[in-house]
Amino acid sequence: MPADTTLLSVPLFSQLSEDEIVNLTKVTREKTYPKNSVIVFEDDPGDSLYVVKSGQVKVVLIGEDGREVILSVMGEGDFFGEMALIDDQPRSAHVIAMEDSRLIVLYRQDFLRCLEETPRIALGMLKALSRRLRSADDKIGGLVLLDVPGRVARLLLELADEGDGKTISRKITHHTIAQMIGSSRETVSRTIRNFSTGGQLKVTSTTIEIIDRAGLESAAGLG
Ligand code: CMP
Repeated sequence: MPADTTLLSVPLFSQLSEDEIVNLTKVTREKTYPKNSVIVFEDDPGDSLYVVKSGQVKVVLIGEDGREVILSVMGEGDFFGEMALIDDQPRSAHVIAMEDSRLIVLYRQDFLRCLEETPRIALGMLKALSRRLRSADDKIGGLVLLDVPGRVARLLLELADEGDGKTISRKITHHTIAQMIGSSRETVSRTIRNFSTGGQLKVTSTTIEIIDRAGLESAAGLG
């Protein structure tokens, strides 16, 4: 069996040799989830780790009134579901497919065996968890310290930095942005319009381009 090409390119497994990825490929399964289906339910017991092979998923908390807070949006090469496996606690959040998504599934015992046999995976995971904690720290800081334009500016800069630092290539709606920064769709749309007329952004029906990075950084409290 050849090594799975997604696993070869996942940062989490970047320290592994191709032979080790072949061994990992042997113990994984693939599953397809249609758009809007729930992959992981908050509070359920967890028995597997997932790697996104294609598509996009969101990690969300859902309040009793049905409002959603998006903690993270993940795409190809990202992983989730590790927390319940590591600390033996129930799932910390829901994970929902935002589009038809294909996932690689690694079951608990195989994941734990991999960690024991290949400590470099543990190092990759610690790095990824540190990155997530930094991003959660930024989010908490933004919620407390920034107004909505500041939060929108910071998120757009982060999304642009996933690529060339200029264009946001990820498909993301104003509604999703609102759920990521704790605001309403209307306010986010107005804010993006203001950034566009102010010359900081160029917005088309399919893309958002950053024109004045310094201006956005200043709005985001980073200048
Ligand atoms: P687990 O708790 O098993 O199931 C839900 C998953 O969502 C969790 O593991 C993490 O993989 C992921 N997750 C939870 N909180 C965050 C966050 N703040 N940022 C990114 N991913 C998260």
